[in-house]
Amino acid sequence: MAEAIVAGLLRGGLVEPDRIVASHPRPERRAELEATHHIRAVAANADAVRDADLVILAIKPQMLGRVGRDLAPVLRPGQLVLSILAGATTKALTSALGHDQVVRSMPNTPARLGRGMTVWYATPATTAEQRAQAAALLGSLGAQLEVDDERLVAMATAVSGTGPTYVFLVMEALIDAAVHLGFARHVAHDLVVETLEGSTLFAKQSGMHPAELRNMVTSPGGTSAAALHELESGRLRTVLSDAVWAAFRRTVELGEQLEATIEPPSDVPRGSG
Ligand SMILES: NC(=O)c1ccc[n+]([C@@H]2O[C@H](COP(=O)([O-])OP(=O)(O)OC[C@H]3O[C@@H](n4cnc5c(N)ncnc54)[C@H](OP(=O)(O)O)[C@@H]3O)[C@@H](O)[C@H]2O)c1
Repeated sequence: MAEAIVAGLLRGGLVEPDRIVASHPRPERRAELEATHHIRAVAANADAVRDADLVILAIKPQMLGRVGRDLAPVLRPGQLVLSILAGATTKALTSALGHDQVVRSMPNTPARLGRGMTVWYATPATTAEQRAQAAALLGSLGAQLEVDDERLVAMATAVSGTGPTYVFLVMEALIDAAVHLGFARHVAHDLVVETLEGSTLFAKQSGMHPAELRNMVTSPGGTSAAALHELESGRLRTVLSDAVWAAFRRTVELGEQLEATIEPPSDVPRGSG
């Protein structure tokens, strides 16, 4: 995801490559990042943030405590830390970093193509300029939405953050069904992917409710009606709703676990003053 953000920033011309510093513990990964994006890559996290206006945190949530201990001594007031860590609350982030100018964001994987959806929340200590900076950065990954209640980021984690997973499973199931009918796999793939893409575009451009779009093609006694009967009997809507709720509960649980395990750095001045 960090690499997707770097690619988005460079693609959008928001930042010159020589203004981006990445940090990664493995030398081969650093060499790869430097060669691909013409940015600088360093081994120590502290070296990457020292002169930065904006620090992007893209490690796995369970690394927050360790990376927080690297960054806390060097972070200073005026720097904005933007986290994409699933579940990590601003309470866990500010506590791990000893820093209160923080954005909690939730992008999704289509961000890699500049077609992502990111929902984000900024702590009250952030300035208007920092929030504008966050909006510009996240806008380079696709659509972005700032919310004034952090719980909405946790909710978005279950809808748009995890959303591509639901779509990919549906995609895979439809491809397998088409293969079962007798299509060659590559043909089945194209039929399904084009149908999903076209339907999404249709829903987006027409602005019509999905039920209206569906009713338009559901003729009495027709093929869609027969298929819809099976989908409803199989409780598709309930299963999807249960999946979204399960992802939401897990997001909240991850946040609570992080808050409980992270100890604030003791020797660092807190807050941005
Ligand atoms: N993937 C998604 O769809 C998605 C969407 C929204 C948010 N997120 C969030 O984005 C974050 C990253 O996810 P990801 O899928 O990009 O995971 P990832 O590919 O594993 O990226 C994490 C990177 O951090 C590196 N790392 C490990 N220890 C480090 C340390 N001490 N200092 C600096 N870097 C270190 C890892 O190195 P190694 O390769 O050596 O392990 C890896 O390159 C997660 O918190 C996730 O919740 C992901």
